[in-house]
Amino acid sequence: MKPSVGIVGCGRMGTALAKALVDRGHAIVGVSSLHRTSAQRLADICGISDATDRPWEITRRADVVFLSTPDGVIESVCASISQQDGFSPAAVVFHCSGAHPSTILASARKSGASIGSMHPLQSFASLDISQNPFEGIRVAIEGDSKAVSVAAQMARDLEAFPLQIITEGKPLYHAAAVVASNFLVTLMGVAFRLIQQAGVKPDEAFAVLKPLIEGTLANIDRVGIHQALTGPVVRGDVQTVETHIQAIAETLPELLPLYNCLVHYTAMQAGEGNRISAEMLETFLERCNFG
Ligand SMILES: NC(=O)c1ccc[n+]([C@@H]2O[C@H](COP(=O)([O-])OP(=O)(O)OC[C@H]3O[C@@H](n4cnc5c(N)ncnc54)[C@H](OP(=O)(O)O)[C@@H]3O)[C@@H](O)[C@H]2O)c1
Repeated sequence: MKPSVGIVGCGRMGTALAKALVDRGHAIVGVSSLHRTSAQRLADICGISDATDRPWEITRRADVVFLSTPDGVIESVCASISQQDGFSPAAVVFHCSGAHPSTILASARKSGASIGSMHPLQSFASLDISQNPFEGIRVAIEGDSKAVSVAAQMARDLEAFPLQIITEGKPLYHAAAVVASNFLVTLMGVAFRLIQQAGVKPDEAFAVLKPLIEGTLANIDRVGIHQALTGPVVRGDVQTVETHIQAIAETLPELLPLYNCLVHYTAMQAGEGNRISAEMLETFLERCNFG
């Protein structure tokens, strides 16, 4: 039989988890949130009656508890549930933070429960869940051995792939996710500003750049990071990079430090992949004058 689940924190993550678990035959014993109205909204989605702002009332009855609150309160919410004897000694308690280790749930472990973290590598932007947002994604898991094995099974139930990581690696794992997702958005914003400055209409910027972005992602997938690199740095075209630097300095100088920084790391990456010589790498590092 599939383990029963209690959800504490009925926002974007809690809603997506609860809905996907219900759809896959897990019993949700109850849901809890800071505001009872949020819990009631999720209870209605799941077709259950137990919605509360007193989490220990539902967590006590759950085989698996998800603390899907904001990162900053996970530890204190866990401690307050533990104080109320809110975890069964047989329970497994997870939080969903990418940055924090499972050890912030130490108070639940003192109650005898197993602890782990289960971080779906996905962006949950809204409460509106029409498709399974877990399908095909990786779910990073770490924690006690029992927690890791339960998390792996639950990830598979959600049609995701478990990715076991080391507890100490969580901040860097999460930094990688931030670079790949959030910073990609930031970089696209910078590209939009540059191309608009060149005369492309704002509402056309994405359509103009989209095939290039998608082609680049496809190239990374096909040939890997080093071979996917194209453009002036990997061609050793210092003059073109200098033209960019001059144009940016004249029109959007606030973007110059970022551009120089990216030339620096692009040249480093081209050097690592033996795509440019050591002399050319040195030239770029001097010209972009960063670090
Ligand atoms: N969103 C994502 O893309 C994503 C992806 C992967 C992992 N995560 C992780 O998932 C967790 C939740 O993130 P989220 O995006 O779902 O946040 P969110 O949408 O802001 O939802 C957080 C929920 O927690 C509730 N809450 C706040 N303080 C609480 C407390 N003291 N006790 C009980 N409930 C409390 C809030 O309650 P009320 O509604 O009642 O005020 C809110 O519904 C975080 O650890 C985050 O790192 C998020």
